[in-house]
Amino acid sequence: TEGISVKDLAEKLDVRGKDLIASLLMKGVFVTVNQSLEGELVKDVARQFGADAQVISVEEQLENEAIEGFLEDTTGMVEIARSPVVTVMGHVDHGKTSLLDAIRSTDVASGEAGGITQHIGAYKVHVTKPDSPAFGREIVFLDTPGHEAFTRMRARGAKITDIVVVVVAADDGVMPQTLEAIDHARAAKVPIIVAVNKIDKPDANPAKVIQQLAARGLQPSNQGGDTEFVEVSAKKRIGLDLLEEMICLVADISAPKAVLDRPAVGTVIEAKLDRGRGAVASILVQNGTLRLGDSYIVGNTFGKIRAMFDDRGRSITEAGPSTPVEILGLESMPDAGDTFLVMADRDKAKGIAQYRKMKEREAQLAKSSRVSLEGLAEQI
Ligand code: GTP
Ligand code: MG
Repeated sequence: TEGISVKDLAEKLDVRGKDLIASLLMKGVFVTVNQSLEGELVKDVARQFGADAQVISVEEQLENEAIEGFLEDTTGMVEIARSPVVTVMGHVDHGKTSLLDAIRSTDVASGEAGGITQHIGAYKVHVTKPDSPAFGREIVFLDTPGHEAFTRMRARGAKITDIVVVVVAADDGVMPQTLEAIDHARAAKVPIIVAVNKIDKPDANPAKVIQQLAARGLQPSNQGGDTEFVEVSAKKRIGLDLLEEMICLVADISAPKAVLDRPAVGTVIEAKLDRGRGAVASILVQNGTLRLGDSYIVGNTFGKIRAMFDDRGRSITEAGPSTPVEILGLESMPDAGDTFLVMADRDKAKGIAQYRKMKEREAQLAKSSRVSLEGLAEQI
């Protein structure tokens, strides 16, 4: 932490420098007006002068700027339509990943049909059915981020998804995580589309699923409600076109937009340690354009884009809004849900990353000392 001079602090607290010096003297601290004060001492005297004004460090100030950068008001900037981002959620084994794989394999426009090895948890799919009203459009799909990551994103006001597709297996019906997914979507104020999956199964009962969900307030649109239900089979590839069409239809209601020409802003979808490649992160660029050479801050780490890849593992040089990318060369691992922000000033990015790391360490220390104190109390 860099300090603050006595003079500046006095100004901030709206007191005379003389009074501040006197008060420090009482604490046994001898200073002159131009001397610099740090951390606890600053908080201490500030408190003494009745300032509930938070004393924030340089890094904290940078951090605030970073958050403001992330949430930057884009009114007045030129916005373009961007592809909708869809998160697929639902109960375990109800077929989320199968559904995504099936949809992805219909996208012959992206090439390499069948040869999909990359798993970055996020894909951009082109609607390729020629007679579909959504033909030629793109949809970004996210395989369920852990509920925790989703909650974290939401808590920060970072809205990552435009639509939630809740997958319900027609043979299994509504289950606890189905309801959880619905709660998440509702809390995030994101429209829900229900994909009733596995309709190829002999014991499938889609009508029952619809009934169960209607009882939870998800009224089907064909019964006067506002929720779209689509019956699908990931296995037999039934209803996939219709699902894509519905997604585009629902997306058109909110008509998501983004600014092309601004420093990129995004969210970490997942991060992993890759044997040959080190820390690798999948990021969804949400706003602006990410380019090779950009410096960035992400979570409590920072770096520079030396290489990036699209969802098919192809090397790319720039990525616009609603584009999932994989980036390499991170100094350490960010977490899913962390915000990603391009910062022209690399030192600033580094400063914020270090500050966040320090905060994290402090929090961990506080936690572990609390735990050991509790342990002690139990022994007594
Ligand atoms: P988690 O990620 O573990 O929560 O599961 P998931 O929801 O991604 O389910 P996944 O796609 O892994 O599918 C679970 C099982 O259901 C697999 O054995 C799939 O083959 C099967 N399955 C998925 N979709 C269908 C379908 O449409 N019909 C049939 N018969 N089986 C399906
Ligand atoms: Mg899965």
